[in-house]
Amino acid sequence: MLIAPSMLACDFRRIEEEAKRALKAGADWLHLDVMDGAFVDNISFGPDVCAAIRKSVPDDTFLDAHLMINAPDHYLPRFLKAGMNLISIHVEREGAVDLHATLAATRAAGAKAGLVLNPATPVQLTLPYLAEVDLVLVMSVVPGFGGQSFMPEVLQKVHFLREQRTTQSLRFLIQMDGGIGPAQAPLCRNAGADCLVAGSSTFRAADMAEAIRQMRM
Ligand code: DX5
Ligand code: ZN
Repeated sequence: MLIAPSMLACDFRRIEEEAKRALKAGADWLHLDVMDGAFVDNISFGPDVCAAIRKSVPDDTFLDAHLMINAPDHYLPRFLKAGMNLISIHVEREGAVDLHATLAATRAAGAKAGLVLNPATPVQLTLPYLAEVDLVLVMSVVPGFGGQSFMPEVLQKVHFLREQRTTQSLRFLIQMDGGIGPAQAPLCRNAGADCLVAGSSTFRAADMAEAIRQMRM
């Protein structure tokens, strides 16, 4: 199980130290939540802060950018330039954004391409893209804010995706994000998740290394 602490929950006054603290505590990836105040009702940070985080951590650190923005196609080149290893875009922008082209452009630039779905979004909407993605992110909260409660009803989507991956002989990873800590991790693992995003339960834990260790079990 890969554990990806969300930098959204870190102390923004000292973001470099916080990134290093997460890595030292055993983080596999760092998850960067990008919010534009339009796709979600919050504003976090953009490509310049992502680039600063890139420069703050060892070159082999895997940076996972979750774009909660209306125009991921328009901003994609800036996140690629910022050195993101994985860029995930929301399936809810289908129609407004050419998702096939955006996923392909991400991969053509040498990054991994991810597709995200919100709790209310039917998992079947991901079907046309499954052969074109490296990761599917199943949101377990309505995105926009850290510190919300886990929605167990989304676990059935993870089951569905795992079945599709097997029957179609695909290789994408399944990630979950929102309200996840040591208490929720076993549910996610049993459903078939490969990677857990965790904000509050890592950065705000008394002992981050122990929290990560418990989630990985
Ligand atoms: C929600 C974000 C999540 C969030 C996770 O909009 O995509 O990554 O920061 O935070 P916790 O783990 O506190 O729910
Ligand atoms: Zn996220």
